[in-house]
Amino acid sequence: MKYSALKGVHDIYPPDIYIWQKVESAAEEVFSAYGFHELRVPIIESTDIFVRSIGETTDIVEKEMYTFPDKADRSITLRPEGTAPVVRSYVENHFYNLPSPQKFYYSGPMFRYERPQKGRFRQFYQIGAEAFGASEPKLDAEILSMLKLFFERLDITGLTFEVNSIGCEKCRPDYKKALSDFFSKKTSELCPDCKRRHINNPLRILDCKVDSCIELRKGAPQVTDYLCTECREHFNGLLSFLKLLNITHKINPNMVRGLDYYTRTTFEVTSEHLGAQKAVAAGGRYDRLVEEFGGPPTPAIGFAIGMERLITMIKDRNKKEIEQAPKAFLATIGSRADIEGLSIAEKLRADGIQVELGYGNASLKSQLRRADKLGANYVFIIGDDELKSGIIKWKNLKDSSQGEIGIKEVSGFQGFYNQQK
Ligand code: HAM
Repeated sequence: MKYSALKGVHDIYPPDIYIWQKVESAAEEVFSAYGFHELRVPIIESTDIFVRSIGETTDIVEKEMYTFPDKADRSITLRPEGTAPVVRSYVENHFYNLPSPQKFYYSGPMFRYERPQKGRFRQFYQIGAEAFGASEPKLDAEILSMLKLFFERLDITGLTFEVNSIGCEKCRPDYKKALSDFFSKKTSELCPDCKRRHINNPLRILDCKVDSCIELRKGAPQVTDYLCTECREHFNGLLSFLKLLNITHKINPNMVRGLDYYTRTTFEVTSEHLGAQKAVAAGGRYDRLVEEFGGPPTPAIGFAIGMERLITMIKDRNKKEIEQAPKAFLATIGSRADIEGLSIAEKLRADGIQVELGYGNASLKSQLRRADKLGANYVFIIGDDELKSGIIKWKNLKDSSQGEIGIKEVSGFQGFYNQQK
């Protein structure tokens, strides 16, 4: 019997895993500087939580959720995104009683039953951040600035920050009406889903993935023309903060996002290197969601970074940086040398130096071949003669330099400390 991973899911293993770890620690470092704390929420939630927040007429809820009854016949859903669980946790744990703004970040797998393709998976990972309790556009700008710093930390270039405002519950109805009027002349040409959306939520037609619907929405009214005074001021406020912070951006009035909970600011960070699935991070404000989950009125904003897309960009850029080679390889000849090698290796490892050993009575030649394949920087050769004299030979496999060192001095070997990590 041969098993393979399910369609649209994947294992993550060396050397790629080192990029994942690097990205995760960059996020932790940068987000902490902005006062975000890690929050770990469950992977399963009540289905309701997603239906109510993401919206019944969205692609995610209509088609993409992994929903199933548990043994007690409760409807459970594997989280398709992180915002709804974080809001549920914020309300359930009364975080609103803590000083505002409260800021959280999270990371982990999300699940959407989508058609797998480049940059689109059924299990994919996000790192996200959510900030609660401030409505000022200053916070929106800080969030975008934090994202910018995060990408800079990882030396990612060629990104576009696209921003928009999709208004609030006051001005959105006018816009929906305008959209509905626009599409009423074209209903017969809309896809079956969009025919329904036209009646229930015309905004959703704007993120339909069907080619003919994409064509039909050319010339549709733009949300920025329908903003109320407060929303317009908020958006202008954001734009001036972005200017102040030197965040180059593009206003994209067509960006409404595929989730219903957004109000006012929405944004996407896109890369021309990613092909069709070009958004590497996306987010926005959701000023009404905490209240809808039973909490006090609490404005909020957040985003999520698509890990697979980000990792692809880093991998494409520089394959070398993902190597994680051992610093030292201890080649041993004979059983006494084996024991000595093991105890040297343990000392080095306690100092944080990555060490590999020879196994299985392999000949010196085959041990050196293995050291080379592993990409080790230094090989130390220990045999009977070395044990007698207390002096061992080292060789730098990168530049072929060599020398000798006292067996007791290996842990202070300068070569380990001179190299770049
Ligand atoms: P989203 O736009 O659905 O927003 O997803 C955010 C990012 O996750 C996308 O830009 C993309 O990079 C990645 N992503 C989404 N679906 C897939 C997939 N099937 N395969 C691979 N990557 C994917 C949200 O999830 C919101 N919760 C973001 C947010 C947080 N808004 C406010 N706070």
